[in-house]
Amino acid sequence: MKNSKRIMVILALMLPAAAPGESPPEPHESLLHAPSLHRAHADAFPVGTAVPRDYLSDPAYAPRLEVIRRHFDHVVAENEMKWERLQPEEGVFTFEEADRLVEWAAANGLRVWGHTLLWHNQVPDWVFEDADGGEVSPELLLTRLRTHIETVMAHFRGRVYGWDALNEVLTSDPDNPFRDSRWLRILGEEYMAETLRIARAADPEALLAVNDYGMSDPGKVASALHLLERLAEADAMPDIFGMQSHMSVYWPPVEMIENSLRALAATGVRVAVSEFDMSVYDWTDTADRYGGTLPEPLALFQADRIARVLKLYRAHAAAIERVTHWGPFDDRNWKNNFPVKGRRDNAGLIDWRGRPKPAFLAFQSPEVFLAAFGPVPEWRPEGTETAPEVSVRADRSAYLRLNRLAVPPNTLVDRGRLRVSVELALAEDALEVGLDVTDSRWSGRAPDETVLRVYLAGEWHAFSAAAHEWAMSGDGERLRARVALPPGVIEAGESVFDLEWRAPAADPRGTYRLRWADTAYAAEVPEQPGVLRLD
Ligand code: G3I
Repeated sequence: MKNSKRIMVILALMLPAAAPGESPPEPHESLLHAPSLHRAHADAFPVGTAVPRDYLSDPAYAPRLEVIRRHFDHVVAENEMKWERLQPEEGVFTFEEADRLVEWAAANGLRVWGHTLLWHNQVPDWVFEDADGGEVSPELLLTRLRTHIETVMAHFRGRVYGWDALNEVLTSDPDNPFRDSRWLRILGEEYMAETLRIARAADPEALLAVNDYGMSDPGKVASALHLLERLAEADAMPDIFGMQSHMSVYWPPVEMIENSLRALAATGVRVAVSEFDMSVYDWTDTADRYGGTLPEPLALFQADRIARVLKLYRAHAAAIERVTHWGPFDDRNWKNNFPVKGRRDNAGLIDWRGRPKPAFLAFQSPEVFLAAFGPVPEWRPEGTETAPEVSVRADRSAYLRLNRLAVPPNTLVDRGRLRVSVELALAEDALEVGLDVTDSRWSGRAPDETVLRVYLAGEWHAFSAAAHEWAMSGDGERLRARVALPPGVIEAGESVFDLEWRAPAADPRGTYRLRWADTAYAAEVPEQPGVLRLD
């Protein structure tokens, strides 16, 4: 790491925070001179941001509008174009707040993306109720949907260039791919094509998107592919699929994002990165660890993750319609209230004092950041480090000690319906590896495919179904294998180590790997390996 850059970063992190209750911190003036984020990516894709209501209504936030004007080329109302804001009561349309943003954007040369026409959240109850408070009939609900979309799109025609028409309608279970919502229950699956048709007719110039979260999950992608197929058959294809991209520094691996991006783009839609941010907490970690000041290695690790993801987006620029950040100012990012209310998450690019973070540089110039600082080792709060260790005790049984937060100790991944766990045991001259995968969404792999690789003593050892004890069941697969320990490994007491599970090539959602320690997947030889320790 270059010393001068390191010093800059440390200085930025040590400046005092504004006391609670004070007016919002002014953005540091360097933000008005720093090279523009959107211009930095002008060769690849537009770069925008969500804007909360009071940036337009409260003069204390006026300096932030200057920052937004410089660094972003489009804006999205964080809440003001949702149904509850635009039509809180039947027939009462309230456009003032949204108009304020649209007018500001027009006056300053920024485009506006509309969010959102249909969602199961932030939609008033009256929409689903009849005059007596009972459940609305499908006919009346469809009429209300049509009135809402037509009125809203007519109001913003020519000023809002596209809309999230369907927001969060999918599940991550392709056997049951559509979210159980009041829309689905009352209107049936047809409501999705119908929404797109109504919106298309209401403003044929506007781009239309299906937008969802958790899109790195192969199950969610399978549901999306299923929906897109259905929409194509119904002649109601959207133009864009929005991957919301609310991420954590610990999940998902860049490779999974790439697989999803490729799979979605292959259907012919363009992909939008529609709600990008990067939480510094593992999803299962509910502790409040940092307040508004990140430890330097974590700030750098967050930046490193952002740089790798932005680099991936740039490599797929032809498929990407835009990249929209969902809250670059840390003090106003929604993650401060989710999943832990009131916890400062630091998920943005500009810190609680209004200063650009390492994340800002990484977002702006991923290659420069990686050349100067990368690869940054994964950083975990004390007591939660995940570097795998195998402790071999006196009875010569072994176990993996992985202090992943709230994850069983020998688990490689535990997300929804995919669980991969590994057990290691040490025999006289061999490491015995047991692998259990539960993933009922795929049906098998070719017997000679590589299932697992273990990195030990400087090389990868591959385990295949054909060469090792291997069993498939409806729930997944199970493998038992031995890798001979090269001479010297036991004597050394400690060895560089990693584990990699590979999804089957036949999996319709695409192949991907899960690595234990080197979650950056930067190289074939792990750059951030774990340690095999023989006590
Ligand atoms: O405006 C009121 C304020 O008057 C009141 O005092 C305060 C008390 O809690 O609430 C304020 O409203 C909050 C609103 O954000 C504005 O800050 C709501 O409680 C809060 O629920 C709402 O959260 C929004 C969330 O959607 C609601 O589901 C977030 O700002 C917004 O970032 C978030 O955005 C969603 C996308 O629309 C869809 N994708 C996921 C994304 C994150 O959840």
